[in-house]
Parts: sequence; C-alpha cells; structure tokens
Amino acid sequence: MRRPRSQVLLQVLPQVLLQVLPQVLLQVQPHPARGGPWEPTWESLDARELPAWFDRAKFGIFVHWGVYSVPGFESEWFWWYWQKQKIPEFVDFMKNNYPAGFKYEDFAPQFTAKFFNAQQWADLFQASGAKYVVLTSKHHEGFTLWGSEYSWNWNAVDQGPKRDVIKELEVAIRNRTSLRFGLYYSLFEWFHPFFLEDELSSFQKRRFPVSKMLPELRELVTRYQPEILWADGDGGAPDCYWNSTGFLAWLYNQSPVRDTVVTNDRWGAGTICTHGGYFTCRDRYNPGRLLTHKWENCMTIDRFSWGYRRNAEIQDYLTTEELVKQLVVTVSCGGNLLLNVGPTQDGTISPIFEERLRQMGAWLQVNGEAIFHSKPWRSQNDTVSADVWYTARPEEGLVYAVFLNWPLSGRLLLGQPKAAEGETKVRLLGYAEPLNWTPSAQRGLVVELPALTFQQLPCKWGWAVALTNVV
Ligand SMILES: *[C@@H]1O[C@H](CO)[C@@H](O)[C@H](O)[C@H]1NC(C)=O
Ligand SMILES: *[C@@H]1O[C@H](CO)[C@@H](O)[C@H](O)[C@H]1NC(C)=O
Ligand SMILES: *[C@@H]1O[C@H](CO)[C@@H](O)[C@H](O)[C@H]1NC(C)=O
Repeated sequence: MRRPRSQVLLQVLPQVLLQVLPQVLLQVQPHPARGGPWEPTWESLDARELPAWFDRAKFGIFVHWGVYSVPGFESEWFWWYWQKQKIPEFVDFMKNNYPAGFKYEDFAPQFTAKFFNAQQWADLFQASGAKYVVLTSKHHEGFTLWGSEYSWNWNAVDQGPKRDVIKELEVAIRNRTSLRFGLYYSLFEWFHPFFLEDELSSFQKRRFPVSKMLPELRELVTRYQPEILWADGDGGAPDCYWNSTGFLAWLYNQSPVRDTVVTNDRWGAGTICTHGGYFTCRDRYNPGRLLTHKWENCMTIDRFSWGYRRNAEIQDYLTTEELVKQLVVTVSCGGNLLLNVGPTQDGTISPIFEERLRQMGAWLQVNGEAIFHSKPWRSQNDTVSADVWYTARPEEGLVYAVFLNWPLSGRLLLGQPKAAEGETKVRLLGYAEPLNWTPSAQRGLVVELPALTFQQLPCKWGWAVALTNVV
C-alpha cells in the first residue's frame, strides 16, 4: 500500500502547521522517495536504509549535560545512586556538603550555564573533525534542555539557565559548521510519578508514554529537527509500552526530518542490537571485528562517567593516543565513533576535553582521507604486525593501513595486502615523497618509512599509508 507523498504531507500539516510550515513547504518539491511508507512494525522499519550521510560521517561528538553537572560527582546517575540506591559515597557526599533536606531539585537553580556560548562549542566540535553532534535533550533525571510543554518547571527555560539551550546549540551548529545536529532522549525518567505508576502495573498502564514521552518526542523533533535521534533508557519496559514502532513510523513517514534522520537501537527492552536504525549494542561497544549492520561505538573521554565529574583525576581521561586507536579500530570494523564530553554547570568544556578534541582534529587533518568516506576492507587488522588497521576507498582503488606504532626498524611489515612490483605505490599521509617498498619474504610487503625526527612526523598518535594497486 503506497501513498503518494503529498497525501502524507496533507495529513501532517494541521498538527505542525505553526512550527514547521516553512520547512514543510520547502519539502513539498518532488524528490525521489527512498522506500516507504513505513509500517509501525519492526519488520517494515528495520528495512529502511540508513541515510547515506551517516556512514560517511564516521565521527561524532556526544554531550552529556544536565542538572547532574551541578554536583559533578562520580556520575550522571548521581540522583539514582544517592536517593534510590543510597550508596554510602553519595549519601555522605550530600551529608558533608549540603544542608539537611537539600533535594536533587535544588541543584537546578545552580545549573546556571553562565558561560555557555553555543558558538564556541560549535567551533570546537568543528575543530575536532567530527561530522555530527548529539546533545542530551533529557537524561533519566527528566530535566529537559528546552522549554518542553510537558516538563513543567523542570526544564532549562523555567529553571537554571533560563535559556533554550537546544535552540542555541542547534542554531550555532547549523549556522557555523558543516556538522549534523542530533539529540539524545531518555525514554524513561527515574522518578516520574506516571512512569512509577505504570511500572507498578507491569506496564499495562501507559500513562507516561501517552501523556509525556510520545508528545514530548514529537515536540522535540518538530521544533529542532534533529538528524540523529539517539533514544536511550527503556526503564525495563518493552517497545510496545513506548509505542516505539508507531513513533518511528511517524518519524520516517511524516516528520520534517523523515528523509535524513538516523536513529539507534534503544527503543524498548529487547530492541538493542536487534531493531531500529544503527546498532549501539552497549555503551563503549567496540567488537574489534567487522559487523555487517551499521553500528556506533559510543564512549566517553572520562573512563568512568558521561556527565562532568569534578573528582576526576588525570589518569581517568583517555589519552589522545587511546582515542585515536578507538576511532581507527571502530572505523576499520564498519562503525562510527561517538565521543563524549561532559560540560560543567557553567557551560564550559574543560581545557582537558578541549585539548583532546583539538588533537583529534589535528590527527584527522592529516589522516582524514583514511577515515571519512572509507569502507571496511577485506581484512580489518593485520595478521603479522600488531596494531595495524585497514580501511579502503574502493572507487579510488585505495587501501589504507593505519599503524599505531612506528616500527623502530623504520620498516613497516604489512602481511595482508598483495602488492605487485612496478604497480603498487605507497605514500605516507602528510608526507610529500612516495615511499619505497619491497615484497616480504613470507607474504605482503615491507614499507620503508622515512627517517623523521619527532618534529617532522606528520602527526603524533598513529600514521597511515595509502596503497594503490593492491588486492
Ligand atoms: C548566522 O551567522 C551569521 C554570520 O556569523 C550571523 O550574521 C547570523 O546572525 C547568524 N544567524 C543566526 C540565526 O544566528
Ligand atoms: C502508536 O502510534 C501510532 C502512530 O502515532 C498510533 O496510530 C497508534 O494509535 C499508537 N498506538 C498506541 C497503542 O498508542
Ligand atoms: C586482530 O584483531 C583481532 C580481534 O581484535 C585480534 O584477536 C587479533 O589478535 C588481531 N591481530 C593482530 C595481529 O593484532
């Protein structure tokens, strides 16, 4: 059953007329539909091809920012650990530092965002080389970073910043950068009374999704038109409780972002790594082997937290070398990397995070051609040399070997590519002269790396050679 697109538009017009009329009118121009209409079943929705921009993008920035950034202690799960699990460390932290009777809600006025400058954030994310950003519009605490109609007095316009944080970042990203704008959204909320009531009924009641989550998600999509919708936090409830398939059918058929939006796999208990858009499988997922379904490694510079943590120590942060390795391994295996930073309650991104992001950008300036627009090669890592990872650009006949250790001998042994004398050419990214190579005694080739001082190296955390005419 195939309806012409104009009919779909007519149905959606009355609901969203006021907010999105200009955009809707723009999209009325005929353009090829990529399949659909989508039925509210996983069978139908899972068959939707991921918009092509996502696989090419490879690298995004994740931002966890909310009221938990105010205590800035241990984890963005602060409220849960303190009040629900009553973990002594958290209980004591409150006892020692706050007056008796201080509630989690009392942190909200201190979430001032005093130094939040969306343009600075946008410029930093651009400088990191990332191609998309995903901001937490609402984490499990329920505080929305926009003036949600459905989150009375527990949102960034009524409380704390008194600003539409999402709008500011959206405008800055779209106006100043070439990044795609994405939003994270937690389906459940730890302490929302409707959710707790539904949970008591074993999710037979559906007051929370019907009156809060579903209308709020639609408001979010129509107002800010995110091109990634990063769902999270099912609270143990199945996707039929959330009506995830009904929502996604609307998102893919009728929403203003229906042609370009990408979603993940966290749409209800049991959907992760199984249904939806790309797979995230679990936090920090990085299987080290090729997956056929598009996937994303979401991880964070702070090994222990997604939200800002005042008690972090320097060794808790991944080094740039470790981050480059995450990116390289992920991309070789067909994934995208979503790298998280946690801003402070003031809205600043600490210089240590900033340095990491800028160094990623410096690395990508040199090695981006081995990453962006690349495809996995027939081998993901080398079988002879450790820490050598492959990507390819088949249309250009190129194979890239990214090597994370510079060999002391100056000779890089690549066991996987089959080279042909007189045909195969090798160059080091960021270095002008072509490199010599010889066939290896066993298999593959030995590349003669140039003798360079530390200052002359094209970059400092992993290097790449481009090979032509290898199979
Ligand atoms: C976009 O950027 C331009 C130039 O920096 C600026 O003049 C304009 O006001 C910005 N638009 C918005 C909506 O911020
Ligand atoms: C689920 O969402 C779809 C699309 O919005 C709607 O038609 C359907 O009635 C919803 N089902 C339930 C059980 O809420
Ligand atoms: C290649 O990767 C696999 C999976 O991570 C690993 O088991 C193997 O040791 C790697 N090979 C080398 C040479 O590093």
